[in-house]
Amino acid sequence: METEEIFDCYEAIIDGLVEHNYAVVDGLFTPEVLNGLKAELIRLLDEEDFKLAGIGKDTLFAQERAIRSDKIHWIDNRSEHVAENAFVNQIYNFSQYLNRTCFTGIQDFEFHYACFERGNFYKRHFDRFKNDESRKFSVVTYLNEDWTADDGGALVLYLDKQEVHILPKGGRTVIFKSELIEHEVLPAGRNRYSVTGWLK
Ligand code: OGA
Ligand code: MN
Repeated sequence: METEEIFDCYEAIIDGLVEHNYAVVDGLFTPEVLNGLKAELIRLLDEEDFKLAGIGKDTLFAQERAIRSDKIHWIDNRSEHVAENAFVNQIYNFSQYLNRTCFTGIQDFEFHYACFERGNFYKRHFDRFKNDESRKFSVVTYLNEDWTADDGGALVLYLDKQEVHILPKGGRTVIFKSELIEHEVLPAGRNRYSVTGWLK
């Protein structure tokens, strides 16, 4: 169901994207969806159903621990898990809204859970692959309770004239243009959980 608040949230994201190529919003997803995603992420971690993340795609794929050291698990867009299904539906609705209002031409999306353990990081990079330009927008939603600056793990966006540091607080969503914004994840001081993906 799309409520008034959700449309306000969509509009805040669009304003940010238009003005700065990125946006940060708290509350795009309900606590029920966030809690359900977090529980599933923890269950998958317990089952050791995560794999070391890579860089590049297809023949350029590599696992390079000096560049990134997080672990991921891809979410099936047809998942029947309640929270995953609600998440995917909302991403779909948001993509449709962006297409209607901003002619973004989003046709697909892909999301994974990510876990940065203590000391894990992801060095400065762009999300667009050299051999696949389909990623239009990067979308990261954090699942961490009570995260403070002392816990490290900030997402740093490198803009033309400044750096923006964003704490991975639970319920916060960061969205930015994949082609334009170089960014980095600073070493996390404790387990740092998120759902990360791309609108294509
Ligand atoms: C990524 C990434 C940012 C974050 O997975 O490509 O840059 O804050 N993640 O987790
Ligand atoms: Mn990235």
